[in-house]
Amino acid sequence: MANLSVKNLLGIKHLNIKDVELIFKTADHFKEVINRPIKKVPSLRDITIANLFFENSTRTRLSFELAEKRLSADIINFSASQSSVKKGESLIDTVNNILSMKVDIIVMRHPNEGAGDFLSKHINAKIINAGDGAHEHPTQALLDSYSIREKLGTVKGKKVVIIGDILHSRVALSNIYALQLQGAEVKICGPTTLIPKYITKLGVGYENNLKRALEWCDVANVLRVQHERMDIKYFPTVREYVQLFGINKELLNTIDKDIVIMHPGPINRGVEITSDVADSKQSIILNQVENGVAIRMAIIYLLAEQIKR
Ligand code: CP
Repeated sequence: MANLSVKNLLGIKHLNIKDVELIFKTADHFKEVINRPIKKVPSLRDITIANLFFENSTRTRLSFELAEKRLSADIINFSASQSSVKKGESLIDTVNNILSMKVDIIVMRHPNEGAGDFLSKHINAKIINAGDGAHEHPTQALLDSYSIREKLGTVKGKKVVIIGDILHSRVALSNIYALQLQGAEVKICGPTTLIPKYITKLGVGYENNLKRALEWCDVANVLRVQHERMDIKYFPTVREYVQLFGINKELLNTIDKDIVIMHPGPINRGVEITSDVADSKQSIILNQVENGVAIRMAIIYLLAEQIKR
C-alpha cells in the first residue's frame, strides 16, 4: 500500500502532491464509512492517541476525537488549563509523562509557532499539528482543499482568494501551500496592516479591493478577525473593517457568478461575514466541518500504518 512521505504531520510545507492525493483518496473511503448507519471501523484498535490542546478549540478538538473514535483508537484528552502545565511543567516533561503511558500518536494544538516541530525532535511518537500559533494548521488546509474538490470537481486551476486577517492566521499559510501544491491560483485580500510582509514571496497575489477580489475568484475563504492575538490596533474600528472587508449578500449580488464561500470557523457573524452569506446556498462552511472528520481519519490512519505493531 502507498505510504505518506512524512513521519509526522507538522505542516503542509513538508507534503508533496502524492501525499495530498493519498490523503484525499483515503478520506473518500472514510467519508463513505461515516455516512453508514454503523460509522465505525476497527482499524486502530491497538493504537492510543493523546489529544493535547494548549489552546482553545471546538471544531478541531472534537473532529480529531470523533475521527479517532470512528477508527476505534483508545484516546486520552489533555487541556492545558486543567493540567500541571499550570504548575510550571515543561512541554517536553508533560509529553514524555504522557508517552510513558504507552501513547502512539500525539495530536497537539499550541499557541507557539513551531511547537510541534520542536517536540518531534525530542520525543519518540508520531505528531499531528492541530494548529501552532500563526504558523500552520495542516488538517484545516487539507479539509478546505478536499471541500473545494468535492464542490468544484478539482482544485487545479481554480482561483481562490483568502480574505481578512492573514497576519494572525495559521489557516492562511497552510492553505496557500496546499492550494499551490494542487495547481490553484491564490490571492489574498485584507487591510494592508493585516498582511504579512513576506507574503508575496510565496507567489500569491494581493488585492486590496474586496469587490475586485470577489469578481476574480471561484472560491472565497473568509478568515476570522483574531482580536485575541492583536496587541495593537490594526484598523481604526470594527465598523470600518466591516465596510471595507466584510462579505454580505448585497455585495455578492453585484458579482455575476456564484462564488463558493468558505470559513474555517469560529465565525464573527456581522464582522467578516454576515449570516445571510454564512448560511446561504453558496456557503460550504458546514461541509468543511463534516469533511474534517474524514480527512483527520485518513491522516491518523496513514500515520498509524507506519507504526510497527
Ligand atoms: N477551524 C478551527 O481550527 O476551529 P477551532 O479553533 O474551533 O478548532
